Amino acid sequence: MSVRSIQQPDDDVAEAARGGVLLDVADLAVHFRTSRGVVRAVDGVSFTLQRGRTLGVVGESGSGKSVTSKAIMGLLPSSGRTTTGSIRYEGRELVGLDANGYRSLWGSELSMVFQDPMTSLNPVMKIGPQITESLRLNLGMDRQTAKETAIGLLEAVRIPAPEKRFNEYPGQLSGGMRQRVVIAVALACGPKLLFADEPTTALDVTVQAQILDLLADQQRDRFMAMVLVTHDLGVVAGRADEIAVMYAGRIVEKAPTRSLFTRMAMPYTEALLNSIPRLSDPSHTRLDAIGGAPPDLVSPPPGCAFAPRCRYAQDICRNERPPLVPRDDDPEHLFACFFPVDSEVALSIRNGGGTGVNLTPTEES
Ligand SMILES: Nc1ncnc2c1ncn2[C@@H]1O[C@H](COP(=O)(O)OP(=O)(O)O)[C@@H](O)[C@H]1O
Ligand SMILES: [Mg+2]
Repeated sequence: MSVRSIQQPDDDVAEAARGGVLLDVADLAVHFRTSRGVVRAVDGVSFTLQRGRTLGVVGESGSGKSVTSKAIMGLLPSSGRTTTGSIRYEGRELVGLDANGYRSLWGSELSMVFQDPMTSLNPVMKIGPQITESLRLNLGMDRQTAKETAIGLLEAVRIPAPEKRFNEYPGQLSGGMRQRVVIAVALACGPKLLFADEPTTALDVTVQAQILDLLADQQRDRFMAMVLVTHDLGVVAGRADEIAVMYAGRIVEKAPTRSLFTRMAMPYTEALLNSIPRLSDPSHTRLDAIGGAPPDLVSPPPGCAFAPRCRYAQDICRNERPPLVPRDDDPEHLFACFFPVDSEVALSIRNGGGTGVNLTPTEES
C-alpha cells in the first residue's frame, strides 16, 4: 500500500470512520476560465455521504453533475480551472491534490463508471487484460491470480461464458455487455466509493434496468457507497437513499428519497418529476418537457436561476437568490425556493389564481 500523500490530524480521520461519513463536500465550487468568460460549472455544493449509502444526483444536462463528480475523482483538466471549498474523503482533504496524490486513491478507494462504455474501454485491447492490468498494478497480483480474479469479476457482473469473453475485444460485445465490463473494471480493486455517471443513458430501456440492478447488487455485496448521477428522476427513485437535485451548478433540493418524492418543495424538482416518461402512457413519451433552457453559467441571472422558467416565480425570485434551507418540520429536507410547491402562492397559481404568474411552455402541452 502506498503512503497517503496528505496528512490530516489523526482525530479527523478517526472521526470520519466513527461517524460513518465517507465523503464530506463543503461549498465546492469549480470555475473554468474560457474565452466567453468564467463558467461557474459548480457553484457552492455541499453534501455528505455515509459508507455504503447511495446519493442520487439529478438534474438536466449542463447542471454540473459530471463536473462535481470529476472534481471529487480528481479527473478535471487543470488548465483554466479554479476549485475552491473542501472535499474530505475519510477525513482527508482532496482539494488541491494532484494526479500523483490521487493515484493511490483511484481504483481502490474511488472509482467511476462513465456513460459511454466505448470511451472507458480500450477498443484494441482484449477485455481480460483491461481488468487484470489494474489488479496487477494496484493490488500487486501475479498473472494467474489476476486472471482468476478477473474471470470472477466478469461472472459477478453476469457476463455469460466469462473465460471465453476474457479473450474477446470490446467491439465483439453488445452495448449492455460492454457496460458490464466497464463496471467490472471499476469494481476490480474494491473501491469504497463508486461514481456512476449516467451509467445507462447509452443503453436501451430493458438493459438499463438490468445494469442498475447489477450496480445495486454489487454495491450491497461490497458495502460500497455510490453517487448515482442521472438526468432522470425515475432512475434514482427506488435506488438512492438520498437525492440531490442540481440546477445551474447548485443543489436546489436535497432530501431522503422518500421525503423528496412525497413532499417535494422545489418547482424545478416538480418539473423534473413531470418530465419522467410514465409506463402507463402507451407511447412512453415525455408528457411535460420543461419549457425554456437552463441559464448561461457565464452570466447566470441575479435571483433564482430557475425563475425564468418557473410557473410560480414572483418578483423577489428574479432579484434575490433563495438560500438552501431546511423544511420547518424536517431538518434533513433542504430546498432553495421562496415559494415552494406546497406554499399558498404556488397553490393559488396551480388553482388558476394568483398574480405575477410566469407561465411556462409546459402549460401549453
Ligand atoms: N473543461 C470545461 N471548460 C469549460 N466549461 C466546462 C468544462 N467542463 C464542463 N463545463 C461546463 O460546465 C457546465 C456543467 O457541465 P457538466 O457537469 O458536464 O453538466 P452535466 O450536469 O450535464 O453533467 C456545463 O455548462 C459545461 O459546458
Ligand atoms: Mg454529465
